[in-house]
Amino acid sequence: MILVTGATGQLGTAVLQTLLQKTSATQLAALVRDEHKATDLQAQGVSLRLGSYDDLASLDRAMQGIEKVLLISGGGEDDALQQHYNVVDAAKRAGVQCLAYTSRALKDPTTLANQLMVRHFQTEDYIRASGLGYVFFRNILYLDTLLLFTGPNVLETGILLPAGQGKVAYALRSEMGEAIANVLLQADCANRIYHFTGPEAYSFDDVAAALTSITGKEVGYTAVEPTVFAAGMQQRGVPELAIERTIGFMTDISHGQEAEVSSDLATALGRQPVSLTDGIRAVYKL
Ligand SMILES: NC(=O)c1ccc[n+]([C@@H]2O[C@H](COP(=O)([O-])OP(=O)(O)OC[C@H]3O[C@@H](n4cnc5c(N)ncnc54)[C@H](OP(=O)(O)O)[C@@H]3O)[C@@H](O)[C@H]2O)c1
Repeated sequence: MILVTGATGQLGTAVLQTLLQKTSATQLAALVRDEHKATDLQAQGVSLRLGSYDDLASLDRAMQGIEKVLLISGGGEDDALQQHYNVVDAAKRAGVQCLAYTSRALKDPTTLANQLMVRHFQTEDYIRASGLGYVFFRNILYLDTLLLFTGPNVLETGILLPAGQGKVAYALRSEMGEAIANVLLQADCANRIYHFTGPEAYSFDDVAAALTSITGKEVGYTAVEPTVFAAGMQQRGVPELAIERTIGFMTDISHGQEAEVSSDLATALGRQPVSLTDGIRAVYKL
């Protein structure tokens, strides 16, 4: 039986959609914090396990009868790392055979500006040290996050970001979820690492050009200095932490942290991932 955590989140939903198409619901369990968000899963026959990463007893209950766990990384809370450790410890106590974790595809974890990303590699280290069989899905920045970074009115505002000419090998979250499910359904859990990225890396000039070609509206990209960008966000009343995180993401992009490409996603999907243009059409609903 496979337990998917974060099952009512966006990536977890995509993983479970594919799992439900390709295997019996009796083989699937979902860790959820709020059962009201999981009525669809329950109706389809998925076993709901109520709990959260900071409730050890709930994790022990959730692991009963489970062979593989997909730990979907939690949010940006201060105790997120300990929460991941709690899931790993519970999986070990329950004798789970395989622990899969959604990490991040970044070129050099030792030189990251965005400290939020470091916990992914600390979690990987903890899983390796646990002795559990593991699979790491190192996911690239979701193409879906473009909407957040460029803002919803990008056709009017253009793109202003402190990302220099840095590139990102974007992939759609839904395709990464599908690929994760495909890998989970293979029997093998031999300490593998998958780098899920698109086939090509794109700059924000490329994103702007794609938006222009789709809509016929001229969209430009201006690479602003981080200090100027931060001042603009402060003026708009954006909280300090959000400013810090956005600049962290953009600094890492400008340093090429998100630009490496791999064919792992295409292999796991059995097809090429969507192009930048088609991905943008889907994300911006154009
Ligand atoms: N590669 C990227 O570009 C990228 C971008 C954003 C995030 N991420 C990472 O990937 C993860 C999944 O992405 P997503 O888009 O699916 O995010 P999401 O929609 O926010 O889903 C996160 C899931 O984690 C669950 N969760 C959070 N804290 C938990 C806790 N303490 N105990 C139990 N469950 C908990 C949430 O439960 P509820 O449904 O109850 O809220 C939700 O189901 C994120 O959490 C983040 O770590 C990656």
